[in-house]
Amino acid sequence: MEAQVPRPLRLIFLLCFFSALPRRCRFLAAEAAPTLVASLPGFDGPLPFRLETGYVTVDEQNGSELFYYFIESEGDSRSDPVIVWITGGDRCSVLSALLFEIGPLKLIGEPYNGTIPRLRYHPYAWTKVASVLFVDSPVGAGFSFSRDPRGYDVGEVSSSLQLKKFLTKLAPPNCLVHRPRLGHF
Ligand SMILES: *[C@@H]1O[C@H](CO)[C@@H](O)[C@H](O)[C@H]1NC(C)=O
Ligand SMILES: *[C@@H]1O[C@H](CO)[C@@H](O)[C@H](O)[C@H]1NC(C)=O
Repeated sequence: MEAQVPRPLRLIFLLCFFSALPRRCRFLAAEAAPTLVASLPGFDGPLPFRLETGYVTVDEQNGSELFYYFIESEGDSRSDPVIVWITGGDRCSVLSALLFEIGPLKLIGEPYNGTIPRLRYHPYAWTKVASVLFVDSPVGAGFSFSRDPRGYDVGEVSSSLQLKKFLTKLAPPNCLVHRPRLGHF
């Protein structure tokens, strides 16, 4: 791996997409073949928010795919912003943001006794006021993978271009009402 993603920051950046996506534009492209996740092991009852997961191919030659969790805003998902969240550090799973930072679920901290760890609802999540697209990026982070090992050899530029491709496939430009704004933390 010659070009690593050197950022030690837990959070690289937020890409805020502007207000509404028109209603007829389903956010997720057909290619993504999203899975609606209605319940999770360790969580009592159905999830009280809408969670979709799926994969998008970002490098056809090497068979690389990025995995995402899309959680729809619990407010007004038609007018609330859509936030793209990527966890920094080299190839950390974005699940850490979902369970420990801004997501609507938290692990219950208790001594491990050999059973499935329990989850609880987190009422102060960003998903109260925005839809959040959590992306395992770059390829090799979390559940994102490459069929050809050469696909893991990505750096800041190539993984950014893959992310752009991912977003374009997921939310075709004609679905976007305003131009994206790029914000840094
Ligand atoms: C482990 O802890 C959970 C949560 O407190 C409890 O429901 C379960 O019965 C425990 N299992 C064992 C094998 O002790
Ligand atoms: C596939 O991986 C190789 C080796 O990292 C890279 O040079 C090539 O650009 C990748 N293919 C695509 C389409 O990105």
